[in-house]
Amino acid sequence: MSRLLTGFKPTGHMHLGNLLGAIRPIVARQDGNRTTVMIVDLHAMTVPHTPATLRELSMEVAGLLLASGVDASQFYLQSQVPEHTELHYLLECVTSYGEAHRMIQFKEKGGSGSRLALLTYPVLMAADILLHDTDEVPVGEDQLQHIELTRSVAQRFNNLYGTTFAVPKGVSPLFAARVMDLSDPARKMGKTGSTDTGSIRLLDEPEVIRRKVMRAVTDTLSTVHYDPAEQPGVSNLLSILAGCTGRTPGGLAGQFTTYGGLKEAVADAVVEVVRPIQERYAELDPGQVRKELAAGAEQAREVASVTVRRAKQAIGLVMG
Ligand code: TYM
Repeated sequence: MSRLLTGFKPTGHMHLGNLLGAIRPIVARQDGNRTTVMIVDLHAMTVPHTPATLRELSMEVAGLLLASGVDASQFYLQSQVPEHTELHYLLECVTSYGEAHRMIQFKEKGGSGSRLALLTYPVLMAADILLHDTDEVPVGEDQLQHIELTRSVAQRFNNLYGTTFAVPKGVSPLFAARVMDLSDPARKMGKTGSTDTGSIRLLDEPEVIRRKVMRAVTDTLSTVHYDPAEQPGVSNLLSILAGCTGRTPGGLAGQFTTYGGLKEAVADAVVEVVRPIQERYAELDPGQVRKELAAGAEQAREVASVTVRRAKQAIGLVMG
């Protein structure tokens, strides 16, 4: 049995990249493993936010995770487990400014006017992971740098103050670990920052999904090959198809002679993957989702409080 953990930030609407990069991989492994899935609402406040929107998106993300089949041992909102911020501070005391500053998140969005929390964000993420004695963190490729930081911080803490934390590893799917924007395949598909036409949202209507896929940027080579460097748009479509069907992008490429045919197949596959999620989402009772989240938080605190206690003791605090 492994201890798996992952998190989703409610900064925007969930999209196909989230589904293929992280949701499906953790759902596939949740049976028989101790699984923790969190809506990381505190992370969503590292950039300017609107309180009402944060609340709405937190519930939307929670609902979409349940509708996608998440049945985790622990499923909760990060802010309902105060041990996350408690451990965050302890870990800040073993992380250098330089380490935090090098992280991609701050490099891309940071500056002297940005929120201080954006700089320390990866340390909160390390706390999320270490709190649960996690072995593996299923994430998309963009998050692997943060897992490396988590490993360094855990190892440093263990070396300085005695073995306290399990050292986790990040795992990304073989294909679709970095789904690109359909309109701009040089850019990652994201909740924020990607184009409206280039990001497929999990709650997009089937016709909208079809339209977005049919308008995806390809190239003028007119051959279907899996070659991310030379044919990024076509390769992205093949990766999406592979992520949806469980086949390999290279194997799938041979089935298509035209970009139109490939796009039709991708549109069909995405609509089929998303349809049951949308159906289940429409049937959810928000009151029930809130109850589930509250129960999940209570359960998580049982594990989390033990870890924080261990860390406080190790670092030299007087225990009450
Ligand atoms: P977030 O909310 O940006 O993304 C959630 C998950 O979706 C993956 N993902 C993608 N995968 C493939 N292609 C894409 N275009 C794509 N876009 C997003 C992400 O890699 C991620 O796995 N910092 C994290 C949230 C977090 C977390 C954690 C994750 C906070 N604490 C602890 C794991 C463990 C984030 O911003 O993810």
